[in-house]
Amino acid sequence: MRQIVLARPDDWHIHLRDGDALATTVPHCARYLGRGLVMPNLQPPVTRVELALAYRDRILRHVPDGSAFTPLMTLYLTDDTPADEVRRAADSEHVMAFKLYPAGATTNSAAGIHGIEALYPIFEVMEREGVVLSIHGEVTDRDCDIFDRERVFIDRHLEEIVKRFPSLRVVLEHITTADAVEFVRAASHHVAATITAHHLVLNRNDMLVGGIRPHHYCLPVPKRERHREALVEAACSGEPRFFFGSDSAPHGRSRKEAACGCAGVYTAHALVEICATAFAHRGALKRLNDFCSGFGADFYGLPRTTETVTLVEEPWTVPEDFPFTGDRLVPFHAGQEMAWRVHDA
Ligand code: NCD
Ligand code: ZN
Repeated sequence: MRQIVLARPDDWHIHLRDGDALATTVPHCARYLGRGLVMPNLQPPVTRVELALAYRDRILRHVPDGSAFTPLMTLYLTDDTPADEVRRAADSEHVMAFKLYPAGATTNSAAGIHGIEALYPIFEVMEREGVVLSIHGEVTDRDCDIFDRERVFIDRHLEEIVKRFPSLRVVLEHITTADAVEFVRAASHHVAATITAHHLVLNRNDMLVGGIRPHHYCLPVPKRERHREALVEAACSGEPRFFFGSDSAPHGRSRKEAACGCAGVYTAHALVEICATAFAHRGALKRLNDFCSGFGADFYGLPRTTETVTLVEEPWTVPEDFPFTGDRLVPFHAGQEMAWRVHDA
């Protein structure tokens, strides 16, 4: 039975939601995460440091005794985020980044950005203050094919942003294409990408062949197999600008299994185990620690975690569902056997 010890992992992109949902999501990830960078797409969105600190307190109330889990916060960038808010974020030890959602790109993004060029003055302040810009990199034009939206965003916006603001620290979130991998590799050390656990495992067939699988539907949507392979290769490459951000995004079963099902895959119950399976499959388990527990902290300028968790090659079965705000939550790999399990967490 193989066994590996990891520094306590960090998740650089996670949706915990609010209210009763925290009773499900926080204990799941507090089981083994050191830190989680919490996304701000609540309703209404978390647009100010003050709101983020209040949200952080609500999260902390659900961290079980004895867990070292620390939430780190993001602010939701809008068309009229004031420069002062960027300065306040830079001064806050708990706020790590601004999240840019193109308006209409994904769940709760209605308050997002309408014109990226109009934000250049804010990017300039972020660059000067050393605040990270975290980007949902998809265009939203109705006539742009959903499978091309990430690539077109890179060509149309991202190339220009990193050229104009060469010292701005940018994270392209939840990348899904070989194009994004290539873009990050060619960019400066100020540019990085997160990769989710589910995008290491799923291609678009897994979402659509044999019937629509609503629990595999997320944004950006999984792409062709060659893109999934590029993501696995990047995650396992040992290159420091690819690190783990789960994008675990819970929605109740009734909202997923619907005529217009919403986007998001829930992985917080097995984040590390899903990554371990993908890395083991490629014979790259020795690289898992840097991907899950090292490179993200390095990029965000924080010390690496010192506690450890132990991953053991031991089968277990993922529950069919969990209670969630009066509904049920169907986790990724529901009812399936997993090969790796975290112990001592
Ligand atoms: C996320 C959500 O549900 O908040 N959904 C998703 O499919 N990833 C939003 C996001 O990160 O796009
Ligand atoms: Zn997300």
